[in-house]
Amino acid sequence: MVAANWKMHTTPADAGALAATIAARTRVDGPVIRVICPPFVCLAAVRDALAGSDVAVGAQNIHHEPLGAYTGEVSAPMLAGLATWVILGHSERRRDAGETDEQIGRKLRQAVAAKLRPIVCVGEQLAERESGRAADIVADQVRAIIGGYAGEGEALARLGIVIAYEPVWAIGTGRNATGADAAAMAGLIRATLDELEFTAGGAAVPVLYGGSVTAANAGEFFAEPAIDGALVGGASLKPEEMAGIVARAGLTAQARANGIA
Ligand code: 13P
Repeated sequence: MVAANWKMHTTPADAGALAATIAARTRVDGPVIRVICPPFVCLAAVRDALAGSDVAVGAQNIHHEPLGAYTGEVSAPMLAGLATWVILGHSERRRDAGETDEQIGRKLRQAVAAKLRPIVCVGEQLAERESGRAADIVADQVRAIIGGYAGEGEALARLGIVIAYEPVWAIGTGRNATGADAAAMAGLIRATLDELEFTAGGAAVPVLYGGSVTAANAGEFFAEPAIDGALVGGASLKPEEMAGIVARAGLTAQARANGIA
C-alpha cells in the first residue's frame, strides 16, 4: 500500500490534474493499494479526477464528534461520497492542533461508524528516541488509541484499519528511519495489539512506514516483511517520485504473492 499525504498543498484548481497524473504514472502489475489524501477542499476535485481508476481518496483528519458547535471542523459523516479513507492522529495535528490519544481514539470510533478506513499514525519524538523510550511511547499510543476497541478488533480488521509508524524526527527532515527500525516498531505495534487481545490478532493489521520516504529509499522499507507499505508526504506531490515508490511496492507485492519475499 502506498498512501499520499498531500498535507496543506494543492488547490481545487490544480489537485485533480496532479491526482490524475499520479494515478497514470503509478499503474503497476502487483496488487498495490494506492490512496491520495488531499486537503478537504480538494477532495471533490480529486475524487472526480480519479473516477474510473482504482486509486482511492482519503481525508487527512476528521472531528471526534459527528456534528455540533465546532467551528471550522469537518466530521466523518460529511465525507460520505468524497473519501473512503482517513488519516487519524498525524503528528502534525498532535503538534499544531493539540490532538491527544484520547481524541484520536474518539476519531477512530467516528471513522468506523462512517465506514472510513482509518490510517492511525503513531510515532515517537526525537528526544523520546534518544532517551531510549521510543518503544514505550509507541506502545502507549497504540494502547490509548485502540485499547477501547480491543473487543471490536474483528470489526476494525474487517473495516481495514491500517497503522502508520511515523517517527516524528523523520517527518519532513530528509532523515528517514532504517528499514530495521521500522520493522522492529511494526513488530512492537502488532505485539501490543495482541496484548490488548485485539480479537482479529495483530498480524491482521497492515503497518506502513512514514517519514522522508522517497523513490530512492522506499525499497529499504518494503524489503522488510513486517512493513506493508508507506505513508508519503513531500515526495507524494511529485509524480516521478510516486512512480518510483509504487513501482517498488508493486515488485514487493508480486514477490510476496509468489511467496518469495
Ligand atoms: P514526509 O514524507 O514529507 O517526511 O512526511 C511524512 C508524513 O508525515 C506522511 O504522513
